[in-house]
Amino acid sequence: MKQKSTNVHWHEGRVSRDEREGRAGHRGAILWFTGLSGSGKSTLANAVDHRLHELGLSSYVLDGDNVRHGLNGDLGFSPEDRNENIRRIGEVAKLFADAGTFALTAFISPYREDRDRIRTTAARPDDFVEIFVYCPLDVCEERDPKGLYKKARAGEIPEFTGISAPYEEPDTPELVVDTAENSLDECVDMVLKHLVKRGYIE
Ligand code: ADX
Repeated sequence: MKQKSTNVHWHEGRVSRDEREGRAGHRGAILWFTGLSGSGKSTLANAVDHRLHELGLSSYVLDGDNVRHGLNGDLGFSPEDRNENIRRIGEVAKLFADAGTFALTAFISPYREDRDRIRTTAARPDDFVEIFVYCPLDVCEERDPKGLYKKARAGEIPEFTGISAPYEEPDTPELVVDTAENSLDECVDMVLKHLVKRGYIE
């Protein structure tokens, strides 16, 4: 991104992140769910969100289809627009983490470089937890919950991820969850177990 704002100065808030996390009783972090359309990102992120909420923890889901109605309604699906989509969401997710909340993001986020940029620019090295929601393309296509694969195969949706646009799998995600082989509850358990094992939650 080319910085257009000049003469702007960073202002330190009076309440620190540590103080906010102290009040919340847990740390903030970004749980970044990435995977093909139909892989189950939104379903899983929302189920994890529900579990965290039930545990009394502060969490919030940022979802691709929803965010594209508002904040990112001006963006399409070209590589440049996807890059900007992910950049903005990354920045929003960082604000949530700074506020002592778990930000759960459910975006295809097909480019490794875009995801890695958020990891490397996050305030703390362990703020970014990359969760690869794995599901083979043919299974996603069979599920086709929104009928988009059918349209993409018919040539009605250009640059459709997995069909006519790339998806770059994470090289070293913190966690891989296979939604073709495991039930939703099992997938949620895997995420929660990971968060406990790594000390994000008790
Ligand atoms: S991303 O690639 O920029 O991360 P994002 O997660 O925000 O994508 O949005 C993906 C959602 O937009 C899909 O689940 C699908 O419902 C819809 N969509 C519409 N057109 C496309 C397309 N060309 N490629 C992928 N998803 C699309």
